[in-house]
Amino acid sequence: MSKTAPASVTPLFVTELYRADLGDAKFEDFLAELDDTCRAIADEDEAGQTWSQTKGYLGYTSYASLNDLPARASIFADLKAILDSHVAAFADKLDFDLNGRKLKLDSMWINVLEPMGHHSSHIHPHSVISGTFYVSIPEGSSALRLEDPRLGFMMNAPLRKANGKPEHQSFVCATPLAGTVLLWESWLRHEVPINLSDDVRISVSFNYA
Ligand SMILES: [Fe+2]
Repeated sequence: MSKTAPASVTPLFVTELYRADLGDAKFEDFLAELDDTCRAIADEDEAGQTWSQTKGYLGYTSYASLNDLPARASIFADLKAILDSHVAAFADKLDFDLNGRKLKLDSMWINVLEPMGHHSSHIHPHSVISGTFYVSIPEGSSALRLEDPRLGFMMNAPLRKANGKPEHQSFVCATPLAGTVLLWESWLRHEVPINLSDDVRISVSFNYA
């Protein structure tokens, strides 16, 4: 009798990250307009500038100051339409039983992260799907760093081999390009490490519920 009988390993309780890269030639004008609009709003929004400064956010975010981006500029309404379809596709892949309803955009905000800025580890409460659309990603700018949601349970678990499979790592970095959409379930803890680029990193984040 063989000492190593056939065996199988089944992935369970999988954490999924959705990615779509839209930055092709067709999207060039869209990205350029979105970039200009984000910068213009960041220059004008004094409440957002003050909030960012008070909270130690190196750069600008409209997170606490503006809640109407799709009504404020048509480019954000266009972005919302794009995101609606990606969120619906992700919800379908996750086998969400939504009882016939669709997840709706709950909030959307601009992030203009200066060189050496970062956004510490966090989750997005009161939401189902969260994500980011990347507008300007100059060379050297931060990736998105995602954390294994079971990390707090791993009292005596060995570290994982650095060259092991990505799905076995405790932390995974997703490196976006301009035009990348990343989506994840809102309970998944993530952070933006220090922006080592010489230029600003511009993104639009959002919650669906
Ligand atoms: Fe976030």
